[in-house]
Amino acid sequence: MKTVIIGSGNVAYHLAKAFTQNCYSPIQIFGRNEEALREISSENKIPYATDTLADADFYLICVKDSAVAEVSSLIKKENCLVAHTSGSLPKEVLLGNYRKACFYPLQTFSKKKTLNYSEIPFFIEAENALDFGFLKTLAETISTLVTEADFKKRKFVHLTAVFSCNFVNHLFARGKEISDAQDIPFDWFYPLIDETVRKIRTIDPKDAQTGPAIRNDARILAAHEALLADSSQLEIYKVMNESIKKMYDLK
Ligand SMILES: NC(=O)c1ccc[n+]([C@@H]2O[C@H](COP(=O)([O-])OP(=O)(O)OC[C@H]3O[C@@H](n4cnc5c(N)ncnc54)[C@H](OP(=O)(O)O)[C@@H]3O)[C@@H](O)[C@H]2O)c1
Repeated sequence: MKTVIIGSGNVAYHLAKAFTQNCYSPIQIFGRNEEALREISSENKIPYATDTLADADFYLICVKDSAVAEVSSLIKKENCLVAHTSGSLPKEVLLGNYRKACFYPLQTFSKKKTLNYSEIPFFIEAENALDFGFLKTLAETISTLVTEADFKKRKFVHLTAVFSCNFVNHLFARGKEISDAQDIPFDWFYPLIDETVRKIRTIDPKDAQTGPAIRNDARILAAHEALLADSSQLEIYKVMNESIKKMYDLK
């Protein structure tokens, strides 16, 4: 199937790389950011364009969620398959008389970070068995973890990912603000962070909780609050402790 990737952000960058590494070559990478397109194009030997969308059988839209509908309307062809890569959008967001699908990779993608693509779970939805079969086979050229998921399931996969990845990363960023302000090297915390993540593979996260909130240690909680001059850090500290206490029914 002649394939075009649309977009030049984190997901487009990594999917272009994952496809070409696995001997599947898109015929074009299309977008509006010429500098970013040129980088993906030269790394993967895929022609790029900002003006004319190539004639293809499959268009994979990798643009930010709020632009998916608008970008999908650029595809005027009818006899083709179009998929987006969002966890939180239904396939019906795609605006055209083509066959619609979703090709959602469950991973955190940043251009600066290399990834082992074979460990990425893919969640796929299509209108018919033929398109589903094509997308499944395509995902399986990259990874063995390929699952069918309709929008009802996928939106909860994405929501879980926000809690388990995006929020956790934000807490790392806030934690590093605190250590940086005290000239404490953040790499001292790497073994702790690594063990926290490793541990939940063998112990349910609810059973793995430690810290002053689950010990219901009011003295330490108050002392920590007094150290936090930044209002966002203080707010997060209080919300997290309240959530922990609620989960374990602590007064
Ligand atoms: N990043 C992740 O970890 C991740 C994981 C799974 C799924 N996804 C999904 O993958 C999709 C892309 O995410 P991403 O992280 O790659 O986003 P991103 O890095 O922010 O890149 C967004 C892309 O969308 C383009 N774009 C934004 N507004 C546009 C518009 N109005 N018209 C045309 N192009 C526009 C941007 O072009 P410019 O450079 O010109 O702005 C850029 O190429 C989203 O649906 C997201 O939910 C992301």
